[in-house]
Amino acid sequence: MRTLYVIGIGAGDPEHLTLQAIKAMRRSDVVFIVDKGAGKAELVDVRRGMLAEHAPDCRIVEIPDPPRDRTATGVQAAYEGQVTDWHHRRAALFADAVRRELDYESVGAFLVWGDPALYDSTLRVIDLMLAAKSVEFEYEVIPGITSIQALAAKHRIPLNRIGESIHVTTGRHLAEGLPPGVDNAVIMLDGACAFSDVPGDDFDIYWGGNVGTRNEVLVAGSLRSVEHEIEARRSELKDRAGWVMDTYILRRHRP
Ligand SMILES: C[S@@+](CC[C@H](N)C(=O)[O-])C[C@H]1O[C@@H](n2cnc3c(N)ncnc32)[C@H](O)[C@@H]1O
Repeated sequence: MRTLYVIGIGAGDPEHLTLQAIKAMRRSDVVFIVDKGAGKAELVDVRRGMLAEHAPDCRIVEIPDPPRDRTATGVQAAYEGQVTDWHHRRAALFADAVRRELDYESVGAFLVWGDPALYDSTLRVIDLMLAAKSVEFEYEVIPGITSIQALAAKHRIPLNRIGESIHVTTGRHLAEGLPPGVDNAVIMLDGACAFSDVPGDDFDIYWGGNVGTRNEVLVAGSLRSVEHEIEARRSELKDRAGWVMDTYILRRHRP
């Protein structure tokens, strides 16, 4: 039976790769890399660099990412519909590639940014591929270091304070306000600097853009005193690197 590894590769620093990830890469005959387009070539280059160093004999097959409709900005149901449609198109492309490139006994791998369990569609796409029954395979998930862990390590802080929860959410949800009682949150996938609209002057922010890469930028401080600096440095980072992925922790002061 074909085997597929879904390998978390860490969030940008090639040294995030685990020994388990390296061993899975070495066992793979073919590694599929999803190409997200010209502006994000560095994301493909990081993966190619890891393979050149750790699994130079595997064959690399690039799969172009199908275009995604991003017009639904407000209504949750419309947003979810667009994402589901994109997952189905990805599943069809991935299934074609697996059928074409891997014979029945071969081993393939998908390299996933960070960890496959955190805000990533690959495992949902794998489920769709299996449900469609157009290609047969077994699969195994290899965990990776997430952008959240990388950010906390760079700022040298624990994620939770004593006895407190940590809430993980997106910029889209933050724009609707933090849920009542949430005083400590990690925000991902925020293309619009939603922190600027968080009311009050009792939050600290620990922000990181392109953490672990050569262009990494870190800013920490009281939200109201550093928010404009973050906006400016985020925009410079995007110009310099061609892409930006940022994550931050928002933490209300404790009495
Ligand atoms: C599609 S999600 C993928 C998350 C990934 N699976 C993980 O485990 O971190 C992309 C989001 O992850 C965060 N992210 C990924 N890499 C990052 C990095 N190097 N620095 C800062 N944030 C990053 C950003 O919030 C970005 O919008």
